[in-house]
Amino acid sequence: MKLSTKDFIARKGQTPITMLTAYTTPIAKCLENAGIEIILVGDSLGMVEMGFESTQQVTMEHMEYHIGAVRRGAPNTHIIGDMPYKSTQNIEMAITNAKRLIDAGADSVKIEGPEVENIKAIVNMGIAVVGHTGLTPQTAKNFKQVGNTQEDVARLKQDTQSICNAGVFMLVIEHTKPSLASELSASVTVPTIGIGAGNECDGQVLVINDAAGLGDYWPPFTKQYAQVSEIYADVAKQFKQDVETKQFP
Ligand code: KIV
Repeated sequence: MKLSTKDFIARKGQTPITMLTAYTTPIAKCLENAGIEIILVGDSLGMVEMGFESTQQVTMEHMEYHIGAVRRGAPNTHIIGDMPYKSTQNIEMAITNAKRLIDAGADSVKIEGPEVENIKAIVNMGIAVVGHTGLTPQTAKNFKQVGNTQEDVARLKQDTQSICNAGVFMLVIEHTKPSLASELSASVTVPTIGIGAGNECDGQVLVINDAAGLGDYWPPFTKQYAQVSEIYADVAKQFKQDVETKQFP
């Protein structure tokens, strides 16, 4: 059963919310069958699926394509669509692009950083928005943990309040010290979803490729539940051998 924004808000401080990313139909189907409550079609797809150096190269068209694929695989799961870099350069553009992601199949959209006016405008159009604070990869200089200076802590506290006051129903907190994530989480009424931010948030998200061990680099704060790259390589090796020795077909 697809959970609503109200269901998620009611989960604040309750059983942790589970969220994973997905970008394709078969993976989305697996996540839905496993009972994952939210699928995030993150712009991480640019790096983990498309081979880009950063998420900045991801376009609206990429997001629409992948959101459509995920929706076809997971018709009964709440899907968040990431607003890609430079898709919210003014309010009109932010509203138009948020609508495009909803039309492609998302239930809500996620915006990185304290884009207060854009968030308010999208929420006013009846579209549910997820905020994202801490490390924000679209504009970060590097992917190191954030919130380690007094100045940074003050900024993140301020951003968290502004983002939540703008009307988001959920907030992703990425790669901060666990104690800071815990403090930020306790300071807001909406559920927080952590990634590399300790276990005091109201839920957790991982990039599916990191969790599955698919790729060749996984951030240190992630966990690999399998080694899918090795499984694919093994399939390819066995196939090659079978074909070369005429064991298959
Ligand atoms: O793009 C993404 O997958 C994300 C998560 C890392 C939270 O924003």
